[in-house]
Amino acid sequence: MRVIVDKSLCKNCNYCKVAIACSGEETCIACGSCVDACPYSARKLIENGREAINVGCTINGQYIDVQSHQSVLQVLESFGYQITSFPEKDSIFAPCRTGGCYSCAVQIDGELRPSCNTPIREGMVINTQVETQIPKRIVSGFQGHHVGGVGTPKNLSSRSPLGYLEVACFASGCLYRCSTCQNWRVTYMSHMKPLNPNEAASRLTIERKHCQVDRMAISGGESTLNRKWLIKFVEYLKKLNPDSDARIHIDTNAAILTTDYIDELVEAGMTDIGPDLKGLQLKTFMNIICQKSPPLAKKYLKTSWDAVKYILDEYYDRVFMGVGIPFNRTFMSLDEISEIGFKLAKWDPTLQVTVLDYRPEFRAQTLHRPTYDEMLQVKTTLENSGLKKVMCQTSGGYIR
Ligand code: FES
Repeated sequence: MRVIVDKSLCKNCNYCKVAIACSGEETCIACGSCVDACPYSARKLIENGREAINVGCTINGQYIDVQSHQSVLQVLESFGYQITSFPEKDSIFAPCRTGGCYSCAVQIDGELRPSCNTPIREGMVINTQVETQIPKRIVSGFQGHHVGGVGTPKNLSSRSPLGYLEVACFASGCLYRCSTCQNWRVTYMSHMKPLNPNEAASRLTIERKHCQVDRMAISGGESTLNRKWLIKFVEYLKKLNPDSDARIHIDTNAAILTTDYIDELVEAGMTDIGPDLKGLQLKTFMNIICQKSPPLAKKYLKTSWDAVKYILDEYYDRVFMGVGIPFNRTFMSLDEISEIGFKLAKWDPTLQVTVLDYRPEFRAQTLHRPTYDEMLQVKTTLENSGLKKVMCQTSGGYIR
């Protein structure tokens, strides 16, 4: 396979050139990063027709001959390593496949690098045993925020003298492919130096001091993809911010947030969480996240809803949770909004719910942004289902 560009669609935004870690046209390994990241769908993968050559490399001490124009991940898969899109024991978890999350990272010539977008090369020495390595991840955008995220309490009034509610950073890589992605520039960013957890925690702590706030958040992309990295990051943040006012907030789609993962996050120091549920019906969910495999989508959907229930049952007295829901008539009916409302209200009517108006963004430029009246209708529908704390995003700010 290789990538071709449809010049009639390309708008020369150059995102693929500046943000994507790419080995170049000649050595394209068809990792698909630039295809997924293009906001104009100008890039696509085609059968390549190029002649591959044999290259020799070593995997876990074993010398092998493989064909060129492949990623290290593809080579590992062809040699029997199990590659998964949901974390499983004894497998390589490769959720984003765009070089941002480093979950798929292996040691390549002595350095931890993502296997999904690294081309195999002659003489490469690969080691998949990376348990003792310090994890890395691409994280950017360390800055103060005036609004906060889905997991920020609705009635928070303690702004800093500079007007900030919290400081945040954003992790690259996501396992969804939402056409409406509101943070796609971060999500697909892979051409940056990765940070280890204490570097990222130190930078966020410096921002906290600078912005004079107590809340520190990580969002994305999807913040939870690289579990080892996130747990260490939260632990370091807690260590660097031992005061009782410090809040550590994680915004997530909760697709891989299993109960043991939640336990570990709380143990590490997480105090606030904002699971962003992308629907209730499988069809809606698959449509929003652009996932074609029903079994995989079902697993993500179930895990995210189960995560909300588990946090309510086990941690609601010590972890603040606000839930996010998307709305646009193109993707979701008011009946489904109502169903979501009833389900959540049955669990806890005081749960904070933020409805995000899905607007023209990324690859969904022709989408019609919900009007103020539509969002008001969504709010009323959710309140009629029993929820007491509903907030709806609109073009003119939040309806509270
Ligand atoms: S799966 Fe390779 S970096 Fe995310």
